[in-house]
Amino acid sequence: MTTVSTSAFPAASDSTAVRELEILASFAVPSLPVVVRFMRESDCALLEWHGGIDLRSWYRRQWDAHQAHEICVLVADWNDFPVGQIAIHWRGKPTHPHIPDLQSLRVLGAFGRMSIGSRLLECAERVVVERGFNQITLAVGTQNPRAHALYERLGYHVIGEPYDDEWHYIDARGQDCAACEVVIDMVKELMMKSE
Ligand SMILES: CC(C)(COP(=O)(O)OP(=O)(O)OC[C@H]1O[C@@H](n2cnc3c(N)ncnc32)[C@H](O)[C@@H]1OP(=O)(O)O)[C@@H](O)C(=O)NCCC(=O)NCCS
Repeated sequence: MTTVSTSAFPAASDSTAVRELEILASFAVPSLPVVVRFMRESDCALLEWHGGIDLRSWYRRQWDAHQAHEICVLVADWNDFPVGQIAIHWRGKPTHPHIPDLQSLRVLGAFGRMSIGSRLLECAERVVVERGFNQITLAVGTQNPRAHALYERLGYHVIGEPYDDEWHYIDARGQDCAACEVVIDMVKELMMKSE
C-alpha cells in the first residue's frame, strides 16, 4: 500500500492556506519581442536585478566606460527592461590586449534557456567583426560547466591554463570588495564579412 503524506496539504480548517492555493484569475500575457540594443543610462538602475544596490557604482562605471567607448555594452530588452547583458572590452586582457574580450554575460533567471544568452553573444560577435577584429575571447569559471558547454557549442575553444580572476567593486556602504573566481580563457575565430 502506498502511503501519501498529507502534511504538505493545508488542513481543511486552515482557510488562509486554502485561499493561497486558489487561482484567482487566468489570462494570457501578450508576447513581446526581445531586442538586443546598446546600453542606455536608464539601464544602470534596472540592471541591479543582479547584485542589487551593492553593484550600483559598478554599473555606473560600466556606463561611463561604455560612453567613453572603452567598452561596448549590449542589453537584451524585453518590455523596456534589460533582461540580459554582455560587455565587449575593446582592449581585451593583459595576456591578449589585441583581442576584444567579452565579459559580464548574464540573463535574468526567469528568461533563461530562451536563447537570449546565445543572441547576446552573436550580436557582440557581429559588433566585433564590424570593428575589424577576427578573434574574440571570454573567460569562463572552471566551476561553470553549463556556460562552458554553451560557449563550446557556439565555437569557442580553451586557450591557456586556469587562473584566478579577481575584480573589485565598491559596495553600498562604500567598502572596497573583491570577488575572485578561477577561470579559463576561451577564444573564437570570427568570420570576416568578405570571407
Ligand atoms: C550563461 C547564461 C548567460 C546563458 O543564458 P541563456 O539565455 O539561458 O542561454 P541560451 O538559452 O542561449 O542557452 C542555454 C544554455 O546556456 C547554458 N546555461 C543554462 N543555464 C545556465 C546557468 N544557470 N548557468 C550557466 N549556464 C547556463 C546551458 O549550456 C544551456 O544549454 P542547455 O539548455 O542545453 O543546458 C545564463 O544562464 C546566466 O546568466 N547564467 C548565470 C551567469 C553566468 O554563468 N554567466 C556566464 C559567465 S562566463
